[in-house]
Amino acid sequence: MENKAVIIGIAGGSASGKTSIAQSIYDRFKGSHRVKIIKQDDYYKDQSDKTMEERVKTNYDHPFAFDNDLLVSDLKKLKKKERIEKPTYDYSKHTRSDITEVIEDRDVIILEGIFVLAEEEVRDLCDILIYVDTDADIRFIRRLRRDVEERARTVDSVCNQYLETVRPMHEQFIEPSKKYAHIIIPEGGTNTVAIDLLITKISSILGD
Ligand code: CTP
Repeated sequence: MENKAVIIGIAGGSASGKTSIAQSIYDRFKGSHRVKIIKQDDYYKDQSDKTMEERVKTNYDHPFAFDNDLLVSDLKKLKKKERIEKPTYDYSKHTRSDITEVIEDRDVIILEGIFVLAEEEVRDLCDILIYVDTDADIRFIRRLRRDVEERARTVDSVCNQYLETVRPMHEQFIEPSKKYAHIIIPEGGTNTVAIDLLITKISSILGD
């Protein structure tokens, strides 16, 4: 096993199923402490100096919303198996939470987020690039349910945000980034064949 971590990047539109693919892979290696999931969302910029009103107006589907420099610097450290202190994000407050997470010495990092393929520096640090390709209507339904149930949003706010920023930014930045993928996975978490293939690949990397 090489003394460098392997980074697997999983991109795709909002609510495409990135998390469930990452989680299915992680579950297979759980307990070994060799695999770690990192959410790009944890690298949204800190907005604690802004009012709630200002935070609600942020376009969270534009690359500027992310602290890309911190993500790139942490990925470079993780690649060398060095220690990082990762921020965590609070969607209900639209800013970072007070909690940080120490991560070090992992063989496989699974990085999932909407801009993993769109950001050149991030993309270049990934060894395997995946795009989860799920139809927009399915993604919208999933997002509506999730944001109301888990992210403390109203139906109206989810619909407005989808039309004003999520959809146009998806078309401008995320969909075009598909061309950088090594593998395109249709229908996210339900695609067990694709997940099994990835698990086999990671097992061979880990020498399991
Ligand atoms: N977002 C938001 N409010 C914030 C921060 C982010 O509404 N304060 C939204 C952005 O609009 C962006 C989405 O969070 O579209 C990114 O998360 P998403 O990719 O939907 O979630 P994952 O669980 O990572 O993805 P998946 O559903 O594919 O598993």
